[in-house]
Amino acid sequence: MVKFVKMRDPSEIAEAIAKEFITQLQIKRDSVFGFATGSSPIPLYKKLIEDFHNGLTDYCLAKSVNLDEYIGLSPNHEQSYAYFMKKNLFDHINIMPKNTHVPDIKDNYLKDTSEYQKILDSVGQRDIQILGIGTNGHIGFNEPAASLHAHTHIVRLTDSTTKANSRFFKSEDVVPEYAITMGIADILNSRKIFLIATGCSKASIIETLYNTQGFVNPQNPASMLFLHSDCTILVDEDAASNIPL
Ligand code: GLP
Repeated sequence: MVKFVKMRDPSEIAEAIAKEFITQLQIKRDSVFGFATGSSPIPLYKKLIEDFHNGLTDYCLAKSVNLDEYIGLSPNHEQSYAYFMKKNLFDHINIMPKNTHVPDIKDNYLKDTSEYQKILDSVGQRDIQILGIGTNGHIGFNEPAASLHAHTHIVRLTDSTTKANSRFFKSEDVVPEYAITMGIADILNSRKIFLIATGCSKASIIETLYNTQGFVNPQNPASMLFLHSDCTILVDEDAASNIPL
């Protein structure tokens, strides 16, 4: 079941999800978390760091997997998701680096995704999966298509994603063309999913999702979440501006 919840602003959303992390780690010290990148989860990661510094959480046995990564950027590149996660979360909590996993294609020509799939399969079901959403409905880098992949795969980014993500790069032509991402079945393999959608740019896709509740459509990959039993879509006032919440 998918629940839409409207909150005042991104920090209220961050607080609500951060409470779930506290409870989750109290119940299970070796919890498995699925993390996302992009601007949407940044307030949450700030709150997780704050809670850790206040002694409310302990990640020493926790494990994490990330949704996706650009192909062709080294893990030290400022725009790589590996770098993003270190800078925005991992370097500030006590999760062990060996327990954090961001997809990494070592040989850009081989495009072998089996290594990351093995990691996903070995860490098992995520206790909490965090998601953002692209303005075209992508989750991870599962772009709109006639059919969607169940598992880890290489994807060519759509023009709209390249455009949207170019705000983080010097120019559009240096945004990597390809990425590696978990597939839809991998994303759904989570006990609880929280999707964060904030800001006016997400109002239209949230409106579409809200109005097509219960229907899955590969042209709107986020609609696959309707197959999940415990997914909460948290929207701030701007993202909720076209829906009657
Ligand atoms: C990227 C990531 C997604 C993310 C999306 C939204 O393309 N691959 O995982 O959810 O963008 O990003 P933002 O939160 O910056 O809007």
